[in-house]
Amino acid sequence: MPVERLLTRNWGKPDSRSLKSYEQGGGYQALKKALAMGPQLVVDEVKRSNLRGRGGAGFATGLKWTFLPKDNPKPRYLCVNGDESEPGTFKDRACLENDPHAVLEGIAITCFAIGAHIAYVYLRGEFMEQARILQKAIDEAYASGWLGKKVAGSDFALEVHVHRGAGAYICGEETALIVSLEGKKGWPRLKPPFPAVVGLFGCPTIVNNVETMASVPLIIERGGEWYAKLGTEKSGGTKLISVSGAVQKPGVYEITMATTFREIVYDVCGGMVGGRKLKAVIPGGSSCPVLSADEIDVPAEFEALKKVNSMAGSGGVIVMDESTCMVRALWRIARFYAEESCGQCTPCREGTPWMARILRRIEEGRAAAEDLAQLKSVANAVCPFPPMGLGNTICPLGDAAALPVHSFLEKFRPEFEAHVQAHRCPYPHPWGECAEAFA
Ligand SMILES: Cc1cc2nc3c(=O)[nH]c(=O)nc-3n(C[C@H](O)[C@H](O)[C@H](O)COP(=O)(O)O)c2cc1C
Repeated sequence: MPVERLLTRNWGKPDSRSLKSYEQGGGYQALKKALAMGPQLVVDEVKRSNLRGRGGAGFATGLKWTFLPKDNPKPRYLCVNGDESEPGTFKDRACLENDPHAVLEGIAITCFAIGAHIAYVYLRGEFMEQARILQKAIDEAYASGWLGKKVAGSDFALEVHVHRGAGAYICGEETALIVSLEGKKGWPRLKPPFPAVVGLFGCPTIVNNVETMASVPLIIERGGEWYAKLGTEKSGGTKLISVSGAVQKPGVYEITMATTFREIVYDVCGGMVGGRKLKAVIPGGSSCPVLSADEIDVPAEFEALKKVNSMAGSGGVIVMDESTCMVRALWRIARFYAEESCGQCTPCREGTPWMARILRRIEEGRAAAEDLAQLKSVANAVCPFPPMGLGNTICPLGDAAALPVHSFLEKFRPEFEAHVQAHRCPYPHPWGECAEAFA
């Protein structure tokens, strides 16, 4: 359900992007508090908060910070992940647009806690406006002493740099992000070693999402225990979701971890457009296994979604109504992953376009019954499911492509069969016969 606005507390205030407005609302006081606490207590507080990364994997933030080797004399880096390219996800850009100083304060506290003196914010290439907004906030923070050689008058020095990628989804994957920042082709690499041990320029590096960073000042301001209590047993705090599709009020919302998808659709987002019937919900961005209409009483939280074989992902909720053709929807998703595969691993390079080609055949009425079995078999070769997490590729982009295929086939198989049997798509296409096919 909607909550006391925490992450979004400054959104909508006049001039909410400015340092003046942020300071008037108590901004940067958490940084001062953190500097007085010392790094170890800050890490402990974040561990206590049960904050889990908001970039997709939901890994415990405080725990990740402790993976930095204690005896490595090399510099440490923080990379903030603002690549945000997962279809359906558009909440990090909203953080940057509405409250860039909250993200910066989180970055400063995190760097202090982990002993980093340089942070890079990696933004998706298309985020020109967000990069401009963030750079302005950085300039203001330097001018006021919140960044620079003596952060808030202390001995702690911090530089923050904005880096725009070139518009590749793969560069949101943390190891690809790191090599891209180093000026190389954004190809993921095998883990271990994890970035905390061998990261940017071969140095220990923490990669955290933009929203994760914006959550950190709240934890320091009000305490880890308070933050943990806002959430469920294993996931602290509130979180942002971006809702798109067939709802009355799509947008970015702050919710509690206990909020169910039924509440998101019917209360938070005002119900279905035109009073139409709900068919399906993708809970966390296009890579997350789809939920059917009778599964929407599950909370939008990591553990709860895992129990129904799906994922909270990056909070991108996509709502589909009865007029949605599930074959066409899946084909659209499959084309994205085929386009964005970096081509490094054979199952992903060959499997993603193969799945898209089969889906196109089904949608266009050119498929035979064996195509459904073949689709399943190709998806299995990329990433068997269930159980989750058995991918056959270096990074989870292959899983991201295969999981929707598995779940759509499992939950909406009669629709796929109807296409094959009728040799056509049974859904009307207002813009003419499969116009996208020729795109
Ligand atoms: C293909 C792919 C794309 C990803 N894109 C993003 C992204 O745009 N933003 C993000 O924060 N995490 C993304 N991730 C997850 C990151 O690898 C990493 O787990 C995350 O940035 C860690 O931050 P967190 O712990 O704060 O969530 C992506 C992962 C994969 C496999």
